Amino acid sequence: MAKPRLLNMCGKIVPYEDARVHVLSTAMKYAASVYEAMRAYWSDADQQLYVFRPREHLRRLERSAKIARIPLPADAARLERETLEIIRANELREDLHVRLIVFVDTDDGGLASREPVGYVIAPIPTTRYFETAGLHVGVSSWHRTADNAIPARVKAAANYQNSRLALLQAKTDGYDDAIMLNQDGSVAEGPGYTLFLVTEDRPMTPSVTSNILEGVTRATLLTLFPESLGVSVEQREIDRTELYVADEAFFAGTAAEVTPILSIDRRPVGEGVMGPLTAKVRDAYFHAVRDGSAPHPEWRIPVYG
Ligand SMILES: Cc1ncc(COP(=O)(O)O)c(C=O)c1O
Repeated sequence: MAKPRLLNMCGKIVPYEDARVHVLSTAMKYAASVYEAMRAYWSDADQQLYVFRPREHLRRLERSAKIARIPLPADAARLERETLEIIRANELREDLHVRLIVFVDTDDGGLASREPVGYVIAPIPTTRYFETAGLHVGVSSWHRTADNAIPARVKAAANYQNSRLALLQAKTDGYDDAIMLNQDGSVAEGPGYTLFLVTEDRPMTPSVTSNILEGVTRATLLTLFPESLGVSVEQREIDRTELYVADEAFFAGTAAEVTPILSIDRRPVGEGVMGPLTAKVRDAYFHAVRDGSAPHPEWRIPVYG
């Protein structure tokens, strides 16, 4: 990982090495933290760095914090301002993964401790998350956590125990990645990305009540499919066997962007190559995140100037 020189730690700009929490913090002991991961895209043509949809990410952070009963230490407007400031302080002019973690920061707290709350904003130089033409995935025997147990709607460190179990099992079994079903047996999502299928030219994705994280990328694609391709996306419960008869499938997320799935449980998806609608919506997505002349300027918040 390329490390930035400076981080924002609780509103102060500090050297990377000085951003520390105690090993006995409640965040460490009980995973008492919620977070967001955004991307910023550098445009050579515009000589500009755009943070993609930070307002939507920060709105989700507010919701995660509310459900997790972790009081946010600063409002969304301040967190957005400080996100842009820490990028500028590092003078970064390249693609970034921006992580904003809010955590319970006491070394003397029990399970119910809620304060003090600390936060860190880390702008980390990044490239593609999946350096591949497509993924071979398996349906996991680990279920996505239920809304009434560890809600997938919350973006919390604790949720990624579930994701790690599925991903590590998939890799051990020779797959690139995993698709998780929910407790009802219908399709939920990948360990860190939502899932889209295309069957007979109809795109679909699991509904927000399928035990998924309500992805910012998902919301972006729900807009781009009708605007750029003239088809809308069906949001509904999806059966496991619909995975096996889909013509196209892809993961969507801030990290994954739009990454084709080429086989599921060793059954090829369609022809086993990226499908035409996936390719088109992926192009529209890459245009939207990086190009200042693309529709929806409100999605791209410029860092400089
Ligand atoms: C479990 C999970 N689902 C879905 C997503 C996709 O969400 P987004 O598009 O907001 O990055 C992520 C990534 O943050 C995730 O971790």
